[in-house]
This record gives sequence, structure tokens and C-alpha cells, in this order.
Amino acid sequence: MQPTTLILHSDFQIGAVDPRVFGGFLEHLGRAVYEGVYDPSSQHADPDGQRTDVMAALRRLRMTAMRYPGGNFASGYHWLDGVGPRARRPTVRELAWNSIEPNRFGTDEFIRLCRAMDWTPMLTVNLGTGTPEEARNWVEYCNCPAGSQYADLRVANGHAEPFGVKLWCLGNEMDGPWQLGHGPADQYAIRSQQAAKMMKDADRSIELVACGSCGIGMATYMEWDRQVLDYLGDFADYVSLHRYVGNRNDDTPDYLAITNSLDRQIEEMDAACRFIQAKRRSKRRAYLCFDEWNVWYRARGGDGAGVFAPHLLEEVYNLEDALVVAGFFNSFIRHADVVKIANLAQIVNVIAPVLTSGDDLLVQSIFYPFEMYTQRRNGVALRVALRGPSYEGKTNGVVSNVDASAILDADRLHVFATNRSLTDAAPLEVAIADRAITGVESAELLTGPDAKAANTWEQPDLVRSRRFDGIRPADGRATALLPPLSVVAMTLRVQ
Ligand code: AHR
Repeated sequence: MQPTTLILHSDFQIGAVDPRVFGGFLEHLGRAVYEGVYDPSSQHADPDGQRTDVMAALRRLRMTAMRYPGGNFASGYHWLDGVGPRARRPTVRELAWNSIEPNRFGTDEFIRLCRAMDWTPMLTVNLGTGTPEEARNWVEYCNCPAGSQYADLRVANGHAEPFGVKLWCLGNEMDGPWQLGHGPADQYAIRSQQAAKMMKDADRSIELVACGSCGIGMATYMEWDRQVLDYLGDFADYVSLHRYVGNRNDDTPDYLAITNSLDRQIEEMDAACRFIQAKRRSKRRAYLCFDEWNVWYRARGGDGAGVFAPHLLEEVYNLEDALVVAGFFNSFIRHADVVKIANLAQIVNVIAPVLTSGDDLLVQSIFYPFEMYTQRRNGVALRVALRGPSYEGKTNGVVSNVDASAILDADRLHVFATNRSLTDAAPLEVAIADRAITGVESAELLTGPDAKAANTWEQPDLVRSRRFDGIRPADGRATALLPPLSVVAMTLRVQ
């Protein structure tokens, strides 16, 4: 393959990479909470019932903003059911996933987990079957000092100090007809504005995420966002985007070219935010919160058959999926000026980087790109000028063979590069025009036997990252040969 050159310049900055782009999402769905993060019967459980093996694996991902409790679950969830003495918490029929929800894990347990994991809690209020007042009361429970009804309830439950939850989502996917309490954009706009006002009245310091279009294929795509953002005005600190992708046509080159479509989705939502800002002649604008994203197309069935902790959405990930996850991160970094929060959906068992089976744990292929990027997330995203070969995906259009992004952190340059070719190694040259690359601090390579290779309980390390010694600094530049279907993450020293 012809060489690819990445040309950077430290003055060509996109914006600081927000650490919250490395967030996650934990929903009461399938075995995500029960048998996932919380399982008092496990030999790995700590005294609070939290699974220490799952926590140890997830700790490697250094996740930041953690969204909870849903997802679709949130639209039927009454937070009061999940606080107080466990023996008094109701067991309910959960409507979004047709499961049994015993409420053994709720707000207090989630906050305890966030503290243990150094996660920033991000709560989704129920704007499906719930009321704006119920949402406001949850803010009081979490954030207000003792001296009023719900804050005192928190104190009575053993938490004298407020939890200080800063990030709140105004419902989930409210544009989707599958959502409990779905309605047209104007109805959601009114309800979310009412909730937003009352929530901010309870705590002025919180930040709110409005429900944007949950997919680019929605009939109301962009029109929903226009109406909601216009009506919410300054109450919307962020607008949400969701995206689940898959290789439905079994066309790997086209699947790996999905980055074009991710870039476009971000730019379209950014355009909606700028349009509303201009229309309102406002100094403020909503930023983007990509609060659900991942590969998800095989394990689609969502019927829990009315049981507790059913096996749902237990997607098995392969090498090509891991390359697509790297593509999401490249796209977020390339749009660091507007994408401020992003949450991998989800974290354990349900469309997740980690699976459990009894007391065993398996790390899936998509775990590795997250780990490789999150270690190198500090700094300012740089524009990447890329010269090299390209190809045309059947549905996603023309892309360069090598997908890339870069972050400058003082005298360290982080470069991420994915070789999308199934057959050919890609020679890569990295240059930063106004500086000299003097050495390699660290580098990892993620690859595997073939596009469909996946880790299994029998072969748990088939697809994983390894230390990469193939980067050569010379004449102020760095060169490497990327194997077919691989991701390289490198930290270079620059002068
Ligand atoms: O993450 C799984 C589900 O996908 C979420 O509950 C929902 O918001 C989305 O449709």
C-alpha cells in the first residue's frame, strides 16, 4: 500500500478534549446491574455487594461520566422505589424490557459505586411516566443540604452530605415511539422545559442534557432537535445524540467507513445547535452529548420474558467491531470543540466491553480501543491533514485507508491510527510541522487473526492490545508499518 502521511501543526487546534468523552452507561437492563456490577452472591462481591472483579476490569478504562439508570428503563422508573431500606423497596414489573425489577440497587448504591470507581454520576430523569416534580424531587434528594423533605430522606438513608450530581438527562430517546410516554416534539419540549426549570430551581449548578434525535434514521431527525432546542433555550446545556452501528451487510470495508457517517451526524447536530443560537441571538449554545454509542446489531431482542436479570443484548464483539469503536473515538476527538460528553453503551454484560458468567469474567475486543485511547486523553485535539490512499465504501462513501486523530499534551503527542485494509499493511509517517518528534514514550497495537475473530471463554485473548515496538523516530518524524485491520495508539515525545 502507498504510504500515508499525517501532517499536524501545534497551532492548528480543534479544542481541548473533554475527559467526559470517555464516559459509560449503566442501565437496569438484562444482567448489567444484577450479575454485572452488583451481585452479593458472587465470590467477588465486596461487603456492599459490588463485584470487585468487574470493577477492577472497568477501572482500566478510567471512565468518567457514568449515565444511569437508563436508557429506556428510565422512562418507567420511579426513583423513590430504589432508596431506603432494601426490605421495604417494591419489586415491580419493568415495562421497557419486560423484566422483574427488585430495586435492590438504586440511587445510593449507584453513588457508592461512582465514588469507588471515580466516576462522575449522570442521572436520567423519568419524563415518560414520571412528572417534572418527581424529577425535581430527585435533584433535591441528591443535591440539597439537610432541611427539606427529600434531602432529609437522603440523610435518613445514611448520607448526611449531598451527592452533588451535576449532570442530568431530561429523559431518554423521547422521540422514539417505543419509549414509554413518547409524544411529539412540542409535547416533550413543554414537559422537559417544566422539569428543567424546577430542577434548576432546586440546584442552579446542575447541567442538563435535552433529548435530541436518537438516530439519523428517525422521521423527525433535526426537526425534533430544532423544536426542542428552540423551546428549551438556555435550559439545554447539551443535546443528546445516540448511535448504534453494525455490519449488517457483512461488508467490512463499508462498515469501517462508518466514520464518515459519524462525522456527519456530529456536524449536523452541531449545525442545529448553531442555528438555534443564531435564531435566538444568544451568547450561549448547546453542546453535544453523545450519551449512547456502540456497535449493536446482533443481539437485538429486548423481551426479558418477565423474569429477573434476563440475558438480554449480550452482544459478542470481534476485531472489526473494535476498529469501529476506535473510529467513534477518532470522530469525537476530531470534533473536540463540540462533543463534550460521550457514553459507551454499556459497561457490563449488556452490549458491553466486559461479560460475566457466574464468577468468571471475559474482556471483549471493544475493551482494548477504549483502554488505548483513555490513557492518552489529556490535551488539545489537533487537525489532522492526511495524505494517502483511500477507497470507497458502498454506502458510506470515500474514506482514507488510515483513519486517524491526534492530541497534543505539551511535549507529548498522542496519535491514533487505524488501518482499515483487510489485506495490506499500511506504511505511516507522522509529522508535526512546527516541532520535531524526538522519541516514543509508549505505543500499543490492537489486532487479531481476522475481522471476525472474537474473544471467547475458551480463547479469551484472541483479540487484544499488545505493546508495539514498531515506531521509528528519525529526522523529526515518526514512521511505522500498521498491520492489516489494526489500531495503533502511540505517545510520541516532541520538542
Ligand atoms: O442501550 C440500550 C438501549 O438502546 C437504551 O435503553 C435505549 O436508550 C436505546 O434504544
